[in-house]
Amino acid sequence: MVLELDQYADGKAARLWSLYIGDQAQRTKNYKQFLKGILNSYNCETVLDVACGTGIDSVMLIEEGFSVTSCDFSDKMLKSAWSTRWNRRKEPAFDNWDIYEANWLTLTSDLGTERQYDAVICLGNSFAHLPDLTGNQDSHRLALKNFADMVKPGGILLIDHRNYDSILDKGRAPTRNIYYNSQYVSDIKTSVVYQNGSPVKIILDYVMSDPSTTEQKYEDNDRRKKSLFSTNPSDNEFTLSYYPHRLSSFRALLEEAFDHRATITTLGDFQPLEQAQDPAFYIHVVRKLPTVEDLGVEEVWQATSSSGEEFF
Ligand SMILES: C[S@@+](CC[C@H](N)C(=O)[O-])C[C@H]1O[C@@H](n2cnc3c(N)ncnc32)[C@H](O)[C@@H]1O
Repeated sequence: MVLELDQYADGKAARLWSLYIGDQAQRTKNYKQFLKGILNSYNCETVLDVACGTGIDSVMLIEEGFSVTSCDFSDKMLKSAWSTRWNRRKEPAFDNWDIYEANWLTLTSDLGTERQYDAVICLGNSFAHLPDLTGNQDSHRLALKNFADMVKPGGILLIDHRNYDSILDKGRAPTRNIYYNSQYVSDIKTSVVYQNGSPVKIILDYVMSDPSTTEQKYEDNDRRKKSLFSTNPSDNEFTLSYYPHRLSSFRALLEEAFDHRATITTLGDFQPLEQAQDPAFYIHVVRKLPTVEDLGVEEVWQATSSSGEEFF
């Protein structure tokens, strides 16, 4: 089943991924400030990146001083992360970076639950890669429950998805992307698959443009980017598919995964929802509320007497 689910297995998207996301050094300042800001505001020190891919978010967080554990189920994507870890192994933070192969559907048994994290992150429109395998979203429920189980009481899950409500309404995905410097994306073709009248899959065909013809110059690995671009046009396209999560039903799935003991704040392109007009991405910050067992008697008394927050 893993092989069927791994859309990066043929190596095509994995090869073009660094072209798609742009240089890490060039990664939008907004994104870095946002991610750091959220993690700091919830006092997070330990982070589990469950969709690390080539490791772009993980590396950024390690460089910012977080203690990061990363996993993904695609060895083609992980190859880059492992190689970065190896190349930077003399830096203690990278030497301590744990990277595992793990599937969201079996995450708790793949990683074990002895260790929970201040924050679990699943970013870059990754979760939508998981199809609805049974037609009743049980695969989505299972993966989200596994994520919730890896979060410490009081910790957070940060998870995002494209604005599929808008894509379904308009019939196309915007090329604008808040996460990546997509200078080399020339087009994204959108197809929507319906089953019995309901949208069940969105297929995005990404077409990359030649880095040597783009005006933006990247000094550090410009040559490498050009070498990723092929003279055969079909080599410069990759296709990925997604489950089109609607905002309201996705929030309901999150509530359920945390047994309705969580506060959920949803942002649109890093902004409060009311300020975000037709955002490209929704980002959910789910805080797992501690139970009585999680808190000692003393802490329960303090928590209930000194804060307005609901714990139960
Ligand atoms: C869009 S990439 C994002 C990677 C990274 N977060 C980034 O922003 O570049 C999505 C990642 O999710 C991983 N993924 C998809 N389904 C998965 C699953 N069921 N279990 C583990 N990883 C999965 C893919 O292998 C891929 O590396």
